[in-house]
Amino acid sequence: MEKLVIQGGKPLYGEVRISGAKNAALPLIAATLLAPGTHILHNVPDLRDTRTILKLLENLGITWQRRDTTLMIDSTHLTFSEASYDLVKTMRASVLVLGPLLARLGRAKVSLPGGCAIGARPINFHITGFEKLGVTCRLENGYVDAEIEGRMQGNVIYFDIPSVTGTENLLMAAVLAKGKTVIKNAAREPEIGNLIDMLTGMGAEIQGRGTDRLDIYGVDRLSTAECAIIPDRIEAGTYLIAVGATGGEATITGCNPAHLPSLLEKLRATGMEIKETEDTIFVSADRRNGNGQLRSVDIKTMPYPGYPTDLQAQFMALMTLSSGVCVINETIFENRFMHVGELQRMGADIRTNGHTAVITGKGANGLCGAPVMATDLRASSSLVIAGLAASGRTEISRIYHLERGYEQMVEKLSRLGAEVWKEQE
Ligand code: EPU
Repeated sequence: MEKLVIQGGKPLYGEVRISGAKNAALPLIAATLLAPGTHILHNVPDLRDTRTILKLLENLGITWQRRDTTLMIDSTHLTFSEASYDLVKTMRASVLVLGPLLARLGRAKVSLPGGCAIGARPINFHITGFEKLGVTCRLENGYVDAEIEGRMQGNVIYFDIPSVTGTENLLMAAVLAKGKTVIKNAAREPEIGNLIDMLTGMGAEIQGRGTDRLDIYGVDRLSTAECAIIPDRIEAGTYLIAVGATGGEATITGCNPAHLPSLLEKLRATGMEIKETEDTIFVSADRRNGNGQLRSVDIKTMPYPGYPTDLQAQFMALMTLSSGVCVINETIFENRFMHVGELQRMGADIRTNGHTAVITGKGANGLCGAPVMATDLRASSSLVIAGLAASGRTEISRIYHLERGYEQMVEKLSRLGAEVWKEQE
């Protein structure tokens, strides 16, 4: 196993280009199952998770080729309808094949993902939604075995909580159902807009893009798609926070600032300078300009356009370096404070009570390097940020978590002047 070593305390300067979004690539790759033929996806990040979903598609009989960031997926021969535990346990988003398999084959057997490091994360909304469309779902031996005779029938589906992959799964099912489906309290994340654009390009009829009500008018068949994956807003946010934490100055390119409304406001409130164009964000916390003392700012994670849970751990790392006290409230996942204990090992002052963390900033030089352990993807990136800002050497073990969602992180950070490398444990 590899670990990441960081010799911290160096401000990040320069430019970093953002990759395509993991959480958009996964549903768009799954959506290629909906229509036979060759689909073309651009700006696809090469990550452990995108490789996992492509492996899953291969197991279903699908072939694919990659040329740089473009994927050509030929889904003509869809011969199998089962996603095994081996794959699903490594990536929960594997459940995204349920909707397209049901729409195209009328059958899907997918392992239940089980709990994960950040919470229980059930898929009951997905299953109830499919049942509303007429599907029979049996839960047996750790699998959901779903089946429908003929086509699904449109219906009204209401989510208790807006679910991102739940909305995506049901969208992919409903586009080929008979009649109209309405998804109420749908998630509004930009990745869903990306999926709607792809489905519309394939011939689907969907109204309400960007809102919490989606009206889907089922069509008889779809055609192949050519679509570009949107920039990864969580990767962009992670680099913005990393630059701020180290007291540096950089331009984030190839991103979409409009997808980061809450983070940019929060970063401005800390005193960081943020300037946006259509596809770049300039960030400065340069201590040479006297901008280095960060103010403490509270956050509460919420569904989009609220503050994203996927940037909570990184913001907490930033707040350990601020000059006051702040409260972070995690409302999406019940166990998403796994990074707290590791940040404390680096000298952070954090107290938690249930879903709330109180962080007393220790100033720009408040952290020191330590051996720490990555526990999930975003917790890992918060440790990277802490390590970059800390004095001395930080060693982060279990970095396979990072490789699930950050493309070429070591190379990108090195180009910004960080001293960071991988070593065998
Ligand atoms: N929920 C249920 N039942 C369901 C579905 C969701 O109770 O059937 C609950 C969840 O337990 C959670 C809330 O609803 O409390 C929202 O979960 P959601 O379904 O939106 O999460 P997800 O679709 O499983 C996606 C991202 C996550 C991101 C969340 C929230 C993908 C592939 N994953 O997960 O990304 O944290 O939305 O924004 O899109 C990551 O990239 O590191 C990551 C974890």
